[in-house]
Amino acid sequence: MAIDVDTLEKLRAEITEVAPLDLSWLNPEEGLPRGIRVKPGKRGLTFDEIEIGAQGEVPPQSRNMTIRPRGATARPDAPRISNPYGGRADVYAENTRLLYEEAIQRQWSSATDIPWESIQALPDDMERAMCQLCTLLTEVEFIAGDTPGQWMPHIDSEYHEVKLFLLTQIMDEARHLDVFRKRALANGGGLMSSTPGDVLRVIIEAKDFTEMSAMMHVFAEGFVQSMFRMGEYIGQNEAEKRIFRLCGQDESRHLGFGVMHLKYVLENEPWRREELHHYLDKAEEALAGGSSIDTESGFAFIESLAILMGGGVKHFDKGLDMAMAVQRKRINEYMHRLEVAGLGDRRERMHPFMRPMLDPVN
Ligand SMILES: [Fe+2]
Ligand SMILES: [Fe+2]
Repeated sequence: MAIDVDTLEKLRAEITEVAPLDLSWLNPEEGLPRGIRVKPGKRGLTFDEIEIGAQGEVPPQSRNMTIRPRGATARPDAPRISNPYGGRADVYAENTRLLYEEAIQRQWSSATDIPWESIQALPDDMERAMCQLCTLLTEVEFIAGDTPGQWMPHIDSEYHEVKLFLLTQIMDEARHLDVFRKRALANGGGLMSSTPGDVLRVIIEAKDFTEMSAMMHVFAEGFVQSMFRMGEYIGQNEAEKRIFRLCGQDESRHLGFGVMHLKYVLENEPWRREELHHYLDKAEEALAGGSSIDTESGFAFIESLAILMGGGVKHFDKGLDMAMAVQRKRINEYMHRLEVAGLGDRRERMHPFMRPMLDPVN
């Protein structure tokens, strides 16, 4: 269809009314100092190389609230996107950049990095115990992904390192969820009983970032990590051992962030000590009082471990001793991590359900 002359004239007129070209943005007056040239280091162009000078300074306070990246020129007309935490100590940890870089360099694939062919048929009790453990771990990983996801908008754009780290955690947890589901389905056992979920719910219900991090990163993921580190004794074949090894490697980062965040809070805002104890009281109480350790509710975590570690139901007593040794190890490692974070006084305050399992101080 041909355009009529009037329409053509109108279009031409509109074109001539376009605002004159403005290239003033090529000469920014504010923002970062320019002209810094950065070279890749031994591990490539990591944050250690790039976040130098003014751009690398993480401000102690921020009122950004927009999606303006740290160091970019602010625009007064930019809409607020969220109402994030305004203090560095609310969300930060000194190792965040390092953990992010490590996370992106150590991604693995459940499809190709696990020697699935090493899984052979197992006796029914062993297969079902492994599948019960994997069902539980799949649920744990749902919470471990959903929880950081809901905290993303609360992290200020100035603290992008924390956002990036949490995004890698979400990817890690997706992979854990998928690998435990695959294991449950790979060898005939299938998914078993779900948990009542009450212990895990406490984590996702946290109302403060540090509360969430203490409960999820330090308490829950610490316990998961201590168990993964016993994977050589729990796994029945190379595939399962490697699953625990690779997941454990990822969990070390999540846990490492949590411990260093607690340390950062205690060093920078020491008046929050009692508050942190309160969060740990809640986490420990949930574990002690929650139905997830009550076998009558059909969960059977310790029992699964006992069957796997002992070598079947017929060696249950031996397996239970080994599973309880894992429990003790988990609690002592938890205490050790709290000492690293600066919360050594937790030893006297630990829940009576857990405290008897602490090794005496030398
Ligand atoms: Fe995980
Ligand atoms: Fe994790």
